[in-house]
Amino acid sequence: GKVAVLMGGWSAEREVSLRSGAEVLKALRSADVDAHGVDVGRDILDVLARDRYDRAFIVLHGRGGEDGVIQGALEVLGLPYTGSGVAGSALGMDKLLTKRLWRGTGLPTPDFRVLEQGSDPQAIVDALGLPLIVKPALEGSSIGMSKVVRLEALAQAQKTAARCGGPVFAERWVRGAEYTVAILDGQALPLIRLETPRAFYDYEAKYQSEDTRYHCPCGLPAEEEERLRRLALDAFKAVSGEGWGRVDLMLDGQGGAWLIEVNTVPGMTDHSLVPMAARAAGLDFQALVVRILATTLT
Ligand code: DAL
Ligand code: MG
Repeated sequence: GKVAVLMGGWSAEREVSLRSGAEVLKALRSADVDAHGVDVGRDILDVLARDRYDRAFIVLHGRGGEDGVIQGALEVLGLPYTGSGVAGSALGMDKLLTKRLWRGTGLPTPDFRVLEQGSDPQAIVDALGLPLIVKPALEGSSIGMSKVVRLEALAQAQKTAARCGGPVFAERWVRGAEYTVAILDGQALPLIRLETPRAFYDYEAKYQSEDTRYHCPCGLPAEEEERLRRLALDAFKAVSGEGWGRVDLMLDGQGGAWLIEVNTVPGMTDHSLVPMAARAAGLDFQALVVRILATTLT
């Protein structure tokens, strides 16, 4: 059948999505799939109804595309699509709801406080310590995030995050190493450890910098890696994730693993992590996208 590769959209991650989408489209075509790129705009319902697609491969990052909105529209049209459903997408996009669900199911995630107008910075710092990290709940690719090392910088960090729209929260800083776990079709792929000389793995480290280092194999003992793969799968299931995705976590150096967030439509650029983990599992990029597309049939 005819596959719409949905990319672009109107979120702050539009440019990343266009890069991801171009890679996915190229790979599907070289696998002889009848795939067409669709730059998603507000006329998407008309476009999908008019052009008679059979399935959709969603490579939209951020609000409007990764959060259940497009998924709901596709449900209305009766078009099968890749990845999580409406609920899983909405939960996975929202870092606060994700953390509350994890807490509620006994999964470890760093302590946090919602920041509202009038929140007392001293009370936040007393609760979480310094440094801490301020995040917009509904953004991706680290957009709007700041590491706060001094009390005086908290208000500005809150303002920066608030500009993204949606809730804002402060999260305890986990000193340690950052890992990510790609998930494909109910299985966790080999872990990747990330290393950046920057304050954290921010937008520049993700997409521009040449000095970000990726370790896969990640260097952990096999049993420890296995434990974290299971943790990531539990974390993905807790938010009703389906098909494929990526779970980010930190190890604190004292044996503690801390879940940071879920991505239900992870990046698929040439710098991205899911393709890297898939390669380590013996799946090249083309095989990976064909596998993801196949999950629309189950
Ligand atoms: N939000 C970006 C695309 C990622 O998680 O890879
Ligand atoms: Mg994310």
